[in-house]
Amino acid sequence: MSAILLAVTGTDPQPWAAALRALAPAREIRLWPDGVGKGTDIAYACAWHAPRGVYARLPRLQAIFSLGAGVEHILADPDLPDVPVVRNVEPDLTIRMTEYVVLHVLLHHRRQRLYDMQQRERVWREQAQPVASAVAVGVMGLGVLGAAAAAALAGLGFRVAGFSRTPKSLAGIECFHGERGLEAFLRRTEILVCLLPTTPATQGLLDLKLLRKLKRDGALGGAYLINAARGALQVEADILAALDEGSLAAATLDVFAREPLPAASPLWRHPKVTITPHNAATSDPDAFAANVLGQIDRFERGLPFEHAVDRGRGY
Ligand code: NDP
Ligand code: OXD
Repeated sequence: MSAILLAVTGTDPQPWAAALRALAPAREIRLWPDGVGKGTDIAYACAWHAPRGVYARLPRLQAIFSLGAGVEHILADPDLPDVPVVRNVEPDLTIRMTEYVVLHVLLHHRRQRLYDMQQRERVWREQAQPVASAVAVGVMGLGVLGAAAAAALAGLGFRVAGFSRTPKSLAGIECFHGERGLEAFLRRTEILVCLLPTTPATQGLLDLKLLRKLKRDGALGGAYLINAARGALQVEADILAALDEGSLAAATLDVFAREPLPAASPLWRHPKVTITPHNAATSDPDAFAANVLGQIDRFERGLPFEHAVDRGRGY
């Protein structure tokens, strides 16, 4: 039986190896770099920020599975062989992201950071609170994660719109697409949630020009940003400028151009910024292993992989 290589940096590969071994005891699970050998018996790679050139050393490779939903860390390899690159798409990951988005939309909507400040000062003061149905939330990216988060927010009563590359029709969500759609989408959005993939078209999209287009005179009296996608999408100096000039009232950032976020970054201490350490939706090793082994089983029965990336689109 062909082997699986775990090619992982920046996170401990052992829980992933253990999860794969527990569900597929007959299959060899090897770890990069020591387990590569000649690479001839390795058919599958499970990867997270693998060093450049690893895949090219595997002549019988059939597929590369991303440990996460994002695949830019794989597509960036200039020697990437022509095999399917498969995203991690499974309910555990989707639910975690929905939790994160709902938590941070509510954090801003219910002014929790202000109440945290009041608590530190022992201030007992109720703030004005608009109803959710008066608040316009906009979700950029209506894929697996964006569509689920948008549906959950609509379920809470928010006025939810979504933005995607191609036209969409989703129950209860006002859908915008393309360049012209973006303008209208931003103008009606008070809380902007970013769940776009990193591609050449989306890098640096969250800049000052875009943030200034958000609706500041809505029920919340200001505009808010939640980026749970990738740091490459945001211009961090522009987010700081938008916060300081008032184009943004506050921001939640889970992802950064450099991770871990350097200690010297002014984002850490900014009173209007909420920071989380790229944990909006961390893949669970057990859920990942079950998903990947199911995909391999499908493939070995002659069926195509699900959620393989379109390299032309970049996601
Ligand atoms: P999908 O591929 O399912 O969805 C991507 C969505 O983005 C689609 O709706 C797509 O439009 C849209 N899109 C892509 N390019 C553009 C563009 N140029 N303009 C407008 N819309 C665009 O991805 P997922 O929902 O599974 O994941 C989204 C991203 O979330 C991942 O790529 C990853 O970077 C990030 N992520 C972050 C995590 C974290 O912990 N912080 C965890 C998991 C994921 P269309 O539908 O028309 O194709
Ligand atoms: C992912 C991530 O892409 O965790 O899944 O960032």
